[in-house]
Amino acid sequence: MTQTTIEAYIEQNKERFLEELKTFLRIPSVSTDPAQHDEVKRCAQWVHDHLKGIGMETVEIHKTGGHPIVYAEHCKHPGKPTVLLYGHYDVQPPEPLEMWHSPPFEPTIRDGKIFARGATDDKGQVFAHMKGIETLFAVNGELPVNLKILIEGEEEVGSVHLDGWVSEHVEKLACDSVVISDSSMYAPGIPAITYGLRGLMYCEIKVTGPGHDLHSGLYGGAVPNPINALARLIATLHDDQGRVQVPGFYDRVLELEASEREAFAQLPYEKESFLEEVNASDTAGEEGFTTLERIWGRPTLDCNGIWGGFMGKGAKTVIPSEACAKISCRLVADQDPEDVAALLEDYLRAQAPPSIKLDFKVFHGGRPIVVSRDNSTVQAACRALERSWGAQTVFIRSGGSIPVVATFTQLLKVPSVLVGLGLADDRLHSPNEKFDLENFFKGVQTSAYFYGEV
Ligand code: BES
Ligand code: MN
Ligand code: MN
Repeated sequence: MTQTTIEAYIEQNKERFLEELKTFLRIPSVSTDPAQHDEVKRCAQWVHDHLKGIGMETVEIHKTGGHPIVYAEHCKHPGKPTVLLYGHYDVQPPEPLEMWHSPPFEPTIRDGKIFARGATDDKGQVFAHMKGIETLFAVNGELPVNLKILIEGEEEVGSVHLDGWVSEHVEKLACDSVVISDSSMYAPGIPAITYGLRGLMYCEIKVTGPGHDLHSGLYGGAVPNPINALARLIATLHDDQGRVQVPGFYDRVLELEASEREAFAQLPYEKESFLEEVNASDTAGEEGFTTLERIWGRPTLDCNGIWGGFMGKGAKTVIPSEACAKISCRLVADQDPEDVAALLEDYLRAQAPPSIKLDFKVFHGGRPIVVSRDNSTVQAACRALERSWGAQTVFIRSGGSIPVVATFTQLLKVPSVLVGLGLADDRLHSPNEKFDLENFFKGVQTSAYFYGEV
């Protein structure tokens, strides 16, 4: 084969890369939806076959109690560093469908962007690595490092079976560092390393008043109304300064360092464009913190849904039997999801009037994490990003969660580096999710450079 370069190989294979990415994006691997479980499985098989196809030596599908894990290895250089690449092939549900300009599982290119569910979160970013690795095989005939790859199918449902699997395979996963592309750049043209992620505690509460719905004229005023009670309970969760009132909630919060706050303040940020992005008339949150600090470095408590009583058209005079709410907390290091769930449950029970019954149920969670900003893998990632983008890398945190990162830190005891290839306006989890093709191709380059730099 004639000698070629990374840049030339990517350029020559652009169209094929895109067609393959489209095939990946067409698989509706919605992990939360039982109706799509076969598609999730098919997607795992697709990832498996693709990893084989690009030259990975060992490729395996591991069954779990939930969706399969795809694992691959190509370790040919004893003595050279070993990198573990992590990503996820599952996606969020596409609903509401009517808000999409093109169908979520029919990837469509408009304006230099590819639109589809999973375009950036995380199939597009994972695929950029797959093509970066293919490029290295094609250009050099070998990989410059020992490489292990773990692509899971349950990230969007809290990685429920992954912690157990990782703890059973600590030796198999032994490595010098972990690389993850499942986050974003700071802004167009400004590459970033994400060194902090929030965690998550998600729960649902049900308030029961009377055992069945009652005529509001015959009983109203004399029986507990679960909606009124739930609304009062929710109102006790924050004070007027936007602080969470659950006792102990902030006890384990590591405060942002002065140097971090200064660094955040140096980043270009315009309130106007933020408000445009979210389409709201003003920001809101905990007093004493900037918007970036609120999202990146402070814990929150939010209602994600609330329902109960009569929700049909017109009017119905009823005292409902039940009212429910979904509540979640974004957590920051060193908060623990189980602790926070217990604190919240205790507080709600203490606040609830004796006339109602309260059920409290916890869903999945994830631990928050702050990773090291100073190690050779981070430096390699910075160089790779800078070579691709021709701009300096900034260090940011993110408000999102990737549950397994804390597990890697704890069990594998190696640094993780989060090299975000997406953009802030990619609309992850929303209708019209997209990935800019420039980001995709620069991502392929970054990936190829990165393994070389390591
Ligand atoms: N990739 C995201 C998280 C993310 C997005 C991190 C942008 C940094 C920048 C991930 O797929 C995600 O959505 N995580 C969930 C986790 C949850 C389901 C446990 C989240 O944050 O809601
Ligand atoms: Mn993701
Ligand atoms: Mn996601």
